[in-house]
Amino acid sequence: MILVTGATGTIGSELLRQLVASGIPALGMTRREVPGFVRADFEDPDSLRKAIEGVDTVFLLSAPGPLVPAHDLAMVAAAVDGGVSKIVKLSAIGTMPGSWHDAGERAIRESGLAWTILRPTGFASNVLRWLPAIRAGQPIPNQTGDGQHAFVDPRDVAAVAAAALVSPDHDEQTYTLTGPELLSVPDQVAVMSDVLGQALRVVDVPLKVYAEQLRAAGLDDAFVSVAVRGAELVRDGGGRTVTDDVERVLARPAGTFRAWVESNRAAFA
Ligand SMILES: NC(=O)c1ccc[n+]([C@@H]2O[C@H](COP(=O)([O-])OP(=O)(O)OC[C@H]3O[C@@H](n4cnc5c(N)ncnc54)[C@H](OP(=O)(O)O)[C@@H]3O)[C@@H](O)[C@H]2O)c1
Repeated sequence: MILVTGATGTIGSELLRQLVASGIPALGMTRREVPGFVRADFEDPDSLRKAIEGVDTVFLLSAPGPLVPAHDLAMVAAAVDGGVSKIVKLSAIGTMPGSWHDAGERAIRESGLAWTILRPTGFASNVLRWLPAIRAGQPIPNQTGDGQHAFVDPRDVAAVAAAALVSPDHDEQTYTLTGPELLSVPDQVAVMSDVLGQALRVVDVPLKVYAEQLRAAGLDDAFVSVAVRGAELVRDGGGRTVTDDVERVLARPAGTFRAWVESNRAAFA
């Protein structure tokens, strides 16, 4: 039995769908009341202990934010105590000492359990954040200038996670999961304009303005500084990593951003 945390989110819901479609026993975890899911919260160790009963393997996904280390450590502790044999953790590209995912990665490597760590780049699906601007006929806000990034299809991240969950071939591996091509936000918007048949515009958002917007949206300083540093890195050309890890694990090329937009046309209608 595989416990899928983050099962109502982007990667977890797709992973659960893929596992169930392949007939692999899997259980989604959520804090909400969802039929067929187990209800548990990273903040509540008792609920994690119960969620882990009868589980062999855990897919660990903590929601982005400064609580990632605490949530990861709580789940690793519950998994070790509960006799789980393997953890596959969703981390992030560029994880380094002190980043949100660092403590969880280290705890998993030192847990004595089998493990795989997945470090994806930005998800292609992040462009869904632009829906309000697109629907309002406003230009798409661009915090990263001409900086490029190899956006990864979330379906590929989920497929690599599924492979790592079911096979020992990926034990003790840290994969950096990227798409096949480097794109800037203006490049992404050009692809979307073409696929959606709509002339979309872009407006540059200086990092100072971006930080103010995030604070005005109620995000705390820790979150704002990580988001702004990430945007700055890409803006300065530091996001130009492309790997073949998706292709090596799945034995097929990683999906393109265009293919993701084509599959998700309806979301932009
Ligand atoms: N977006 C990107 O471009 C990107 C790139 C690299 C890495 N990542 C990493 O990917 C992860 C986010 O993945 P995602 O976009 O698939 O997530 P998401 O769509 O934001 O969903 C978050 C999930 O976390 C669950 N959750 C939140 N708080 C919880 C708690 N206290 N206890 C238990 N579950 C909780 C939510 O479940 P309920 O609300 O149903 O309880 C939900 O299923 C983050 O760790 C992020 O750092 C993201």
